[in-house]
Amino acid sequence: MASEWILTLTAQTPTNIAVIKYWGKRDESLILPVNDSISVTLDPGHLCTTTTVAVSPAFEQDRMWLNGKEISLSGDRFQSCLREIRARATDVENKEKGIKISKKDWEKLHLHISSFNNFPTAAGLASSAAGLACLVFSLGKLMNVQEDHSQLSAIARQGSGSACRSLYGGFVKWIMGKEENGSDSLAVQLADEKHWDELVIIIAVVSSRQKETSSTSGMRESVETSLLLQHRAKEVVPKRILKMEEAIQNRDFASFAALACADSNQFHAVCLDTSPPIFYMNDTSHRIINCVEKWNRSEEAPQVAYTFDAGPNAVLIARNRKAASLLIQRLLYYFPPNPETDMNSYVLGDKSILKDAG
Ligand code: DP6
Repeated sequence: MASEWILTLTAQTPTNIAVIKYWGKRDESLILPVNDSISVTLDPGHLCTTTTVAVSPAFEQDRMWLNGKEISLSGDRFQSCLREIRARATDVENKEKGIKISKKDWEKLHLHISSFNNFPTAAGLASSAAGLACLVFSLGKLMNVQEDHSQLSAIARQGSGSACRSLYGGFVKWIMGKEENGSDSLAVQLADEKHWDELVIIIAVVSSRQKETSSTSGMRESVETSLLLQHRAKEVVPKRILKMEEAIQNRDFASFAALACADSNQFHAVCLDTSPPIFYMNDTSHRIINCVEKWNRSEEAPQVAYTFDAGPNAVLIARNRKAASLLIQRLLYYFPPNPETDMNSYVLGDKSILKDAG
């Protein structure tokens, strides 16, 4: 191997939004969840991470930059992902550059990784999901890993649970699995991105500040203290998962919306049931829920579903473009963009558009 070369690869991965939430681990180090979850992956280009990975004999250690700032790779989660991917690396040949890397070389070579989020990091917009999925995907491509997306998802899962669902587009289920080593805890695609493409996802950014309680520590506290979480994981989610799969297959928006809203509300109820209680939503989030609920009840059929992750920002899923444009009118009327208040921008994402509607 010549010593003066560098091989790079760039990939982009969108984030995903859970409509049946993952909240709670049964194994902290392998990141094994207490229940299945279902999400929808945003279209490429919207709320996504772009990662460039590079390898060169000139690199002396593995290094990573997030949004231009160097971050440590020493954490267990990064190390698990790097170890698992390296173990699956195969021979790579780049004839144009005259580079040949054998399976054995990958053990000695170091990596430089640079990642950018095009949306606020750690603000409850699932930045870790896009980030870790993109890291695993781009390294897998660079190292010519032959595993399919489900196998890669089980590696991304060890970086951040929700990341495993971002390896696929469309509607995705993270199967919690039964094995102690986590080999069957992976993501599968329920329906591709074309299956239900009249849905429009609108994200109302209520606050882009970093959340006070991370998902990781929040769910740990919930597992330790919330009885509602136990009930939810055993009794509620398994039934909801079946109904949600059916609603997605049949493109049944009324059922989809009822399930997504109920699940978001129960997740936040679990947070309140945690000791000490965790408050992810704020007054503006509650007002958005009220606004959507009232509107849905005034129509013959629900127009919009809402769901909130570990933060105050609303993810609103409109049944079609007409409902989406009416929703934006309502949002702008009830929550006029104002730099003085918390709620100052809307990001609109669907199959083709991303624009600041604020
Ligand atoms: C509320 O995947 O960020 O977004 O596995 O500890 O990294 P870790 O947690 P993370 O949790 C996401 C929680 C959620 C719900 C969901 O995405 O299903």
